[in-house]
Amino acid sequence: MRIFITEDYKDMSRKAAEMVAWEIKNKPNLVLGLATGSTPLGMYGELVEMYKKGIIDFSNVVSFNLDEYIGLPADHEQSYHYYMHKNFFDHINIKPENIHIPDGCAEDLEEECEKYEEAIREAGGIDLQILGLGVNGHIGFNEPDTNIDTKTHVVQLAKETIEANKRFFHSADEVPRRAITMGIGTIMKAKKIILLASGENKAKAIRETIKGYLTTNVPSTVLALHPDVTLVIDRKAASLIE
Ligand code: F6R
Repeated sequence: MRIFITEDYKDMSRKAAEMVAWEIKNKPNLVLGLATGSTPLGMYGELVEMYKKGIIDFSNVVSFNLDEYIGLPADHEQSYHYYMHKNFFDHINIKPENIHIPDGCAEDLEEECEKYEEAIREAGGIDLQILGLGVNGHIGFNEPDTNIDTKTHVVQLAKETIEANKRFFHSADEVPRRAITMGIGTIMKAKKIILLASGENKAKAIRETIKGYLTTNVPSTVLALHPDVTLVIDRKAASLIE
């Protein structure tokens, strides 16, 4: 596990964007796993700037998002479909047919999960997966006590996650209780992983990810078993490991 500690959120975002750009330069048809939430917003902004300057070409990039809330249509402002288009896809030249986000409104959710896994397999697997980190150590929406070999599946969100994400809704009651997420097994099959974290509220989860023993109580501790993980975290997120 490599760890880059950056001065602040801006540096974290720039460093992560440079790493993604480098991977796309090396493999223009990169299969890129993407996350939502507050953490990668700065990275998306940097990547859009690089695209506008002609530094990156997304025309052959294929993307797979980690997760989506169940029950929110794609045009709902808090859906991850909406987030991804608004913050990233609408500003770059990725082909619409190369974008994949789980459909949280699918009639048959189990079938949707199987189709998602199959699509990842058909694309040749994920080359680079970007992850954020939940305050409880979740990756994707794999909450504490998820088996480490899970594939894309339906999950019940943990209380801490509903609390943490209520800031995007009018109240905690409006936060969907369920989501579709890539499983820990799906994430661990990615060839490379970059995990981003910023701010003091992530410091404990970062300490456990790096120094803790392997436990399904803190899903991110499983990353210690992956051969190519880079943590790009700012000083505040690193404050309990220094
Ligand atoms: C989002 C995702 C989640 C977030 C995590 C951190 O697609 O999979 O694991 O990365 O909840 O969220 P923020 O960045 O909002 O603190």
